[in-house]
Amino acid sequence: MASEPAPIEVRGLVKRYGDLTAVDHVDLTVRAGDVYGYLGPNGAGKTTSLRMMLGLIRPTAGSVRLFGRDPARTVRALEGVAGFVEAPRFYPYLSGRRNLELLADFDGGGARGRIDAVLDTVELTDRARDRVGGYSHGMGQRLGIAAALLRKPRLLLLDEPATGLDPGGMRDMRRLVRRLAGEGMTVLLSSHLMNEVEELCNRVAIVRSGSIVYEGEIADLKHAAGATYRLRTTDDTVALEVCRRQPGVADARCEGGDVRFAADETTVAELSGALIAAGALIVELAPELATLEELFFSLTEGPAAAAPGGHALSPSGAAA
Ligand SMILES: Nc1ncnc2c1ncn2[C@@H]1O[C@H](COP(=O)(O)OP(=O)(O)OP(=O)(O)O)[C@@H](O)[C@H]1O
Ligand SMILES: [Mg+2]
Repeated sequence: MASEPAPIEVRGLVKRYGDLTAVDHVDLTVRAGDVYGYLGPNGAGKTTSLRMMLGLIRPTAGSVRLFGRDPARTVRALEGVAGFVEAPRFYPYLSGRRNLELLADFDGGGARGRIDAVLDTVELTDRARDRVGGYSHGMGQRLGIAAALLRKPRLLLLDEPATGLDPGGMRDMRRLVRRLAGEGMTVLLSSHLMNEVEELCNRVAIVRSGSIVYEGEIADLKHAAGATYRLRTTDDTVALEVCRRQPGVADARCEGGDVRFAADETTVAELSGALIAAGALIVELAPELATLEELFFSLTEGPAAAAPGGHALSPSGAAA
């Protein structure tokens, strides 16, 4: 049990279309129980990567393993795996339920008996007898997840499941993903929405022009980027002077009536002593970690994939 292969292991994955490299040496590992975010702007190669993971297209180079099996070589690799890329496709002139029945018959293995349960999970029971052609975008997405759940997957791959949904639909989709993860399902979802990934995922791959610029824990990414601190004291003029003199403090300035600076935790602890010694008593001292959104832009725009503060951003060893 302990040595079971990871749900997804991608190594050196490349996909070229003529001169265009859509996916460029991607390495990532999705572990059992992860809700893993595959985050990148439009055209970063998310859908192309997911297509290779689902065995829908062949990699130019590199490998995908799902629970140790190669989806490009054997459909058995997709046992226990479900998902869809872009929008799920159904017969528009048939009802949601009828579409699921056809899929269940194709899958076999008692899938028909699960239809009511999966419709209930995605909250489509009330509309299950309506033609899919009349479904809203959000209902179509939910039917796609219902179809995936029919297969009782251990691993679910979703390509931008919440894109195009209204705020209520997005909230429901996130709730659903969280619920499935809570039931023990491993989920990989692509997204270009930082707040969605930050809210849902424990680990993330951030892609830019086909390449991974960060892979790992979201919390580690934020810590690697370091924190800026906001400081209020009984004498901010003195405090600013002390900050500027304190070794290890960078970028000390007055902003919006507060003193702000960048530093690591050890420096901050030493600084607090220096402030008191100088007679500037601390009223408020708060770290402000960069949001994932700020980090995303610093990683996916601009020339270098380096974090603010100059820390390397590749705990996984992926090329920065
Ligand atoms: N079949 C194809 N033929 C030629 N180029 C392709 C093909 N599929 C994808 N591409 C190109 O590969 C790049 C990555 O596309 P992909 O659809 O994977 O991006 P994405 O990250 O999913 O973007 P989006 O957020 O817009 O969905 C794009 O430049 C795209 O034009
Ligand atoms: Mg896409």
